Amino acid sequence: MGSLEPHRRPGRSKVVRLAHLVGARPRSRADHWSFLFGEMAVYSLVVLLVSGAFLTFFYDPGMAQVIYQGGHTPLRGVLVSRAFASTLEVSLEVRGGLLMRQVHHWATLILIAAVCLHLLRLFFTGAFRRPHGLNWLIWVGLFVLGIVAGVTGGILPDDLLSGGSLALIQGVTQAIPFAGTYLTGLLFGGAVPGEQVIPLFYWLHVLLVPVIMIGLLIVRRGLLRRHGRTHYPGAAQLPPLSSPALFLATCGVLTLLGTVAQINPIWLYGPSRPGTTGAGAVPDWYMGFLDGAIRIMPSWEPIVAGHPLTLSVLIPALVVPGGFFTVLAAYPLIERRLTGDSGVRRPLDRPREAAVRTALGAAGMTFYGLLWAAAANDQFAYHFSSSLFAVTWFFRIAVVAGPAVVFEVTRRICLTLQAQGREQRAHGVETGIIRRSARGEYTEVHQAATALPAHGGIHADQH
Ligand code: HEM
Repeated sequence: MGSLEPHRRPGRSKVVRLAHLVGARPRSRADHWSFLFGEMAVYSLVVLLVSGAFLTFFYDPGMAQVIYQGGHTPLRGVLVSRAFASTLEVSLEVRGGLLMRQVHHWATLILIAAVCLHLLRLFFTGAFRRPHGLNWLIWVGLFVLGIVAGVTGGILPDDLLSGGSLALIQGVTQAIPFAGTYLTGLLFGGAVPGEQVIPLFYWLHVLLVPVIMIGLLIVRRGLLRRHGRTHYPGAAQLPPLSSPALFLATCGVLTLLGTVAQINPIWLYGPSRPGTTGAGAVPDWYMGFLDGAIRIMPSWEPIVAGHPLTLSVLIPALVVPGGFFTVLAAYPLIERRLTGDSGVRRPLDRPREAAVRTALGAAGMTFYGLLWAAAANDQFAYHFSSSLFAVTWFFRIAVVAGPAVVFEVTRRICLTLQAQGREQRAHGVETGIIRRSARGEYTEVHQAATALPAHGGIHADQH
């Protein structure tokens, strides 16, 4: 864990003066690195809006089939949708087009990762307590909307992988009891894939979802101004953070990634073909946990009142994510009910001080992580030369047992660290200096623990 440095006076060194010049404030104890994830998410969204706006000039969301006549020779004469042909044109014929596409895609991956890390920071430090409950909900909302934007965006190029995602969406919609067939018709309009789903997703993607995300961020800004930022014990409360330097750094890293790291090369995959998907295809990282859940789910399909109930799809694709996000959103309420602690305007917790919450968080991460890893069950089986069934069964058991084990281990670690802190406060910190008394006794010198806070200080054991 990084340490919180003591407050430095501004302008002392050239580096600090330079940092000032590009807008960075001197770091104070309240400027913990973990506070930056939220800002990084906001800046990634700005990059998405700018690069997305560029792409709309060239992208055509039409699903009508045309014969590809563009510059990519291997696909000349092939029947493709206008969406695919235009994305190919952006990638290979528009100047800067490929860079913008790649920056757009990388920014998506970083945006959702930054939102997740920010949520973890809020969770483990208890930063969701009153009056910050609405802020927590906003970030959970941004997490869900980021995924929706990523999925709808991934469909737009109408390449082979987009086709795979559409087939999955069709399967999940059809599995919904009673309304499934009707909803599929509503989404695809007649035959699948039809000609309406990509234009529909296009407007969702470029207008509805970004507008809601921007709206949520505006509300968040207002909340920050009203309630101030959360802060660690003993640290000053700072005004809302905004750093042009971090913005430039985020843009720089995303541009670098877009320049050197190829992502979604649709000209290698080819156009979408119903019922076809590439071997070894994996989704973007944020969809991995759903893919894993689907892979390890037993093929249960009981007949209820003469109708098949496709639990093998419903549970992993709707119940698991629905339950996960509902519990995530409702967690502040659940904790308040269970502990009776309203926690109004308390400084942030050290994770160890809230042992049960930290253990729950670690268990939740384990659950998510195992589902995520299960999305690579075929890769594990291949690289460890074991049977796919054995690997799948491993994940089925691990996903249930793993979180329980991690919960207990984490809780005990937290309690041990708490006891260690109490011990240090009572008897001081071991210095490693051994003194010999006049009578020949050896004793270790303990430094008085005045620097150690009684409750939840953050500098006690951050080296
Ligand atoms: C809100 C956050 C957004 C996310 C997470 C997101 C994500 C994505 C992703 C993952 C793709 C597929 C990229 C690829 O082909 O490799 C995509 C495509 C696209 N996005 Fe976005 N996007 C967002 C916002 C926007 C906005 C605001 C616009 C327009 C103003 C936009 C316009 C487009 C267009 C036109 C495409 C299709 C072209 C292409 O695939 O290269 N996006 N988006």
